[in-house]
Amino acid sequence: MKILVTGGAGFIGCNFVHYLLENHPEDKIVNLDLLTYAGNLESLADIADKPNYQFVKGDIADMEQIDALFAREQFDVVVNFAAETHVDRSIKDPGVFVRTNVMGTQALLDASRKYGVKRYHQVSTDEVYGDLPLDRKDLFFTEETPLHTSSPYSASKAGSDLLVLSYYRTFALPVTISRCSNNYGAYQFPEKMIPLMLTRALHDEALPVYGTGENVRDWLHVKDHCAAIDLILQKGREGEIYNIGGHNEKTNLEVVRLILEALDKPESLIHFVEDRKGHDLRYAINPEKIERELGWKPQYTFEKGIRETIAWYLEHREWWQHILDGAYKEYFQKMYKM
Ligand code: NAD
Ligand code: TYD
Repeated sequence: MKILVTGGAGFIGCNFVHYLLENHPEDKIVNLDLLTYAGNLESLADIADKPNYQFVKGDIADMEQIDALFAREQFDVVVNFAAETHVDRSIKDPGVFVRTNVMGTQALLDASRKYGVKRYHQVSTDEVYGDLPLDRKDLFFTEETPLHTSSPYSASKAGSDLLVLSYYRTFALPVTISRCSNNYGAYQFPEKMIPLMLTRALHDEALPVYGTGENVRDWLHVKDHCAAIDLILQKGREGEIYNIGGHNEKTNLEVVRLILEALDKPESLIHFVEDRKGHDLRYAINPEKIERELGWKPQYTFEKGIRETIAWYLEHREWWQHILDGAYKEYFQKMYKM
């Protein structure tokens, strides 16, 4: 099978490329990535020379380039990870989110249709459902929960999901969508909460917790996400949406305290800063559909996963220090003024 993975130089995409090469060595993989600030070929250095893997630098929203790539490669499967993904950046500059996430998805859908792709999979997020109240622990997102987005990021992801579903209904393009909760694990860009807190704590720098730190996220190890997508590609029903999550809700403060404890750093590093605009209160996934239909179950407990993740960041200082020393430095100063 020939698989196009877009955004394969980003956090989840590079984990998925590693996952495919380990679990399906018979497949051929093309990784298309624009190498924005979030794309990093250092995450793929160990597999760059594999004969069944190829990297192509390119933009999913560049229709001409996408058409030429599809004409040349004749993909069987497309898995679209490529996106602008950081909520804070979407609040500062929504335009690029609409371009990449919505128009990029459309370009991939058109090419998938034209060249007869057998499965188009859209990697989406639970953020399309908006948020749940903090005082209703009985409520969870199901696949039927109405879309109710809060940020330009989540709105652009919801827009792309709707386009994907429209290509199924109107053109019978064989599509699937997965909506996963917050991921953590190796190779996550240090603008996101867990690696940001980890890398700053290692430097004894202040940890900027938004608002009161009571917001809840439902954390899933990135390898469990990759395994779920693989199952959907193999056994998922066309036209269907699958929520992915492991019932692992934690407040941001709980996660930050856990990181500090693991690194033996003081709680005095915690600094409460101005809240994010439109900050979603709580995300929580009901994963019954993927468990029941496809037999998926997460393999990681949070305790094991976070321990391994912390160990990975300790062992791969060079990987994240390169990022912190680069253009990210300016972003951080502008964004946090600290
Ligand atoms: P990321 O920001 O780490 O990586 C995104 C990748 O996409 C980067 O390599 C970047 O260079 C590439 N990219 C951006 N614009 C592009 C374009 N126009 N053309 C080609 N490549 C482009 O993101 P991530 O955290 O790995 O997320 C991957 C996908 O999973 C996204 O679609 C995101 O919405 C979804 N998702 C993420 C999470 C999470 O917790 N990180 C949870 C659920 C769903
Ligand atoms: P993030 O990793 O940006 O993921 P998302 O907003 O997509 O869930 O943030 C996770 C949570 O951590 C979210 O509630 C915002 C909070 N947060 C902070 O408190 N401080 C920070 O510096 C960042 C980046 C996030």
